[in-house]
Amino acid sequence: MHHISFFPISLCCCLFFLIISHENFSPITAISVDIINQTCRKCADESHVFSYDLCTTSLQAVPVSHVANLQGLALIAMELALNNASSTLQIIKNLLMSNESLDPFVVVCLKDCLQLYSDGITTLEDTEGAFLGEHYDNANICLSAVMEASSTCEEGFKEKEGEVLPSPLTNENYNLFQLCDIALCIGHLLTSGSTFLMRSSAT
Ligand SMILES: *[C@@H]1O[C@H](CO)[C@@H](O)[C@H](O)[C@H]1NC(C)=O
Ligand SMILES: *[C@@H]1O[C@H](CO)[C@@H](O)[C@H](O)[C@H]1NC(C)=O
Ligand SMILES: *[C@@H]1O[C@H](CO)[C@@H](O)[C@H](O)[C@H]1NC(C)=O
Repeated sequence: MHHISFFPISLCCCLFFLIISHENFSPITAISVDIINQTCRKCADESHVFSYDLCTTSLQAVPVSHVANLQGLALIAMELALNNASSTLQIIKNLLMSNESLDPFVVVCLKDCLQLYSDGITTLEDTEGAFLGEHYDNANICLSAVMEASSTCEEGFKEKEGEVLPSPLTNENYNLFQLCDIALCIGHLLTSGSTFLMRSSAT
């Protein structure tokens, strides 16, 4: 139990859960990835659709997130979501421009997605501002709207009567949904005010 001394007192009870849930718990790596894993775990525990793996791999790939607090992690997730959405917008444009054999129904869906993603990018930029201003409720409404947009884009392809068309954007929609969900969950953690994560990031 010597590694408890690495952590502030307020983390003790969560550390207890970490120790019993991670058998190979290492105090050295715990210091850097600690807040990422804890946050992703907590979010995954609260939602069946939340991907713990995507959360940890996405956040751990960004070096600065190893020292970030909760707000910082949410901003990183939003920045990743913004990059993702921008590159998806380009993918949609390329699909629409370069593929003349597209089903006309798919063209309509892609145009809808184009609109949804352009609006989503604007919304995400506003969300970062809301988050920086600590207007978490507004930020959460915006994030939910972007998540909804990714689902709407995905669902569109399934609406053709009598035929099941594969969505060419399944991975993109999934990634955007998940990245926004990270920020949304953190927004909830910050507004609920009663979690150890709040206290651990307060300094
Ligand atoms: C954090 O999560 C990563 C990826 O899931 C894992 O490799 C690492 O061991 C975890 N660290 C802790 C301290 O739980
Ligand atoms: C989108 O996000 C996912 C999850 O973090 C990542 O694996 C993927 O590389 C990102 N794509 C782009 C184009 O940024
Ligand atoms: C063009 O669209 C068709 C129908 O959706 C698809 O089968 C084909 O792979 C696409 N080609 C390219 C180059 O994207």
